[in-house]
Amino acid sequence: MARTNVELLPPHPLRPGYDRDVDPGSITDQFQKRLEPANFNAAHFTELAHRIETELAQQHPSSQELRYQLAFVLLQNNADLTSVKRAETLLADTTLPGGRRLLELISGIKTRATRPADDRVVRRVNWSINNRCPMSCQGCYNPFVQGQITESQAKTIIDKLADHGTTDLVIAGGDPLLWPPIFDVIDHATTAGLRIALDTTGYTLDAPKLDRLASLASLRLPMDGTTAQVQRAFRRSADRDLPARFRESLHLCDDAGFHRVRVHTVASKANITDLGAIADTVLSHACVRQWVVFQWWGRRAPQALTRSLFIDADAIREALDRVRLRHPDKEIIFAETTEREFLNWMIQSNGAVVTFGSGPQEEFIIGNLLTDTVADITRHPILDFEAMQRGVPVTPGH
Ligand SMILES: C[S@@+](CC[C@H](N)C(=O)[O-])C[C@H]1O[C@@H](n2cnc3c(N)ncnc32)[C@H](O)[C@@H]1O
Ligand code: SF4
Repeated sequence: MARTNVELLPPHPLRPGYDRDVDPGSITDQFQKRLEPANFNAAHFTELAHRIETELAQQHPSSQELRYQLAFVLLQNNADLTSVKRAETLLADTTLPGGRRLLELISGIKTRATRPADDRVVRRVNWSINNRCPMSCQGCYNPFVQGQITESQAKTIIDKLADHGTTDLVIAGGDPLLWPPIFDVIDHATTAGLRIALDTTGYTLDAPKLDRLASLASLRLPMDGTTAQVQRAFRRSADRDLPARFRESLHLCDDAGFHRVRVHTVASKANITDLGAIADTVLSHACVRQWVVFQWWGRRAPQALTRSLFIDADAIREALDRVRLRHPDKEIIFAETTEREFLNWMIQSNGAVVTFGSGPQEEFIIGNLLTDTVADITRHPILDFEAMQRGVPVTPGH
């Protein structure tokens, strides 16, 4: 059943829970809001760094807080080894937990800088290609940055990736099926020789669209609860029965004989007791080749939400062990947050490229494919090419 009257939620409906005691417009306020869609870009970060730099030099040269803020902003904004060193110097005497965490990241960067630089090929690329989305998830980590590349820019980026040696492309969003050029862009990438996975809510999937997606290496669809109530605790929509919608997508793939589906479940406190039932539902579909369970990640979430949803990796592992006993032949993968540190080289809807640490607000701008070459961006010192190898391949079973 095609859903044409999809209710589109405004971009990023869930704002992080900011500290309201902070003076509006102050440096601390700008710092806490730096990942907002309008702010998460190189120009804004450069301006913010300049403002903190001035305050530090003129008013508070020994302020630990300002030094921490400046170090973080420097690392997040196209850092080179000089700015990494500067961040380290700023944090030399830090006693702030956040400052010590940044020093850990810097130590990792320095170790990686000593490794040979001969194989800096980004084989797998993730691409948050558009921002429109029919849902609003609790703690969604899509940045919803401002700016949307055109179809022709998307094709140029694909050519750059193919020339560089990229082989696998994961296209997500928002919901990429809500971006009209998506089918032509996928065709272009397929012709360029890339293996493609499409990560969609499936909300607007129908048989003709599935037919147009025949070249995909895999289609990724969600299911986070077997009941509307459990589902709603993470993934929300105007639709009152999302589990039924998700099952319709899976039936569609079963009926079309499209057996390259990978189902994504985000595991949180809200659905841990439902994981077994989700597994039984998902794995009963012939189309499903792989079930991937992501640990809920509060990268952009307010602390209160993290307290109510975050669940320990061990609890998820135990639940999955029980599922594996019932489904020994199925491919079941657990994506633990700490193991996802610097795993992704992700293009955003405006062409900017980012990578992620595993802590809160650890998102790092490393370039922009509208202006930089892929090779320029691979030189970014924060990248961890060993971690990037560990990503799950685009084609299930490989
Ligand atoms: C950003 S989404 C893109 C595709 C599409 N919008 C969707 O959600 O199905 C990619 C995957 O990340 C998951 N995800 C989003 N926010 C998350 C969070 N805070 N923790 C863990 N996984 C999350 C989604 O459920 C989805 O499976
Ligand atoms: S469906 Fe995906 S992009 Fe949309 S809010 Fe949920 S996790 Fe975010």
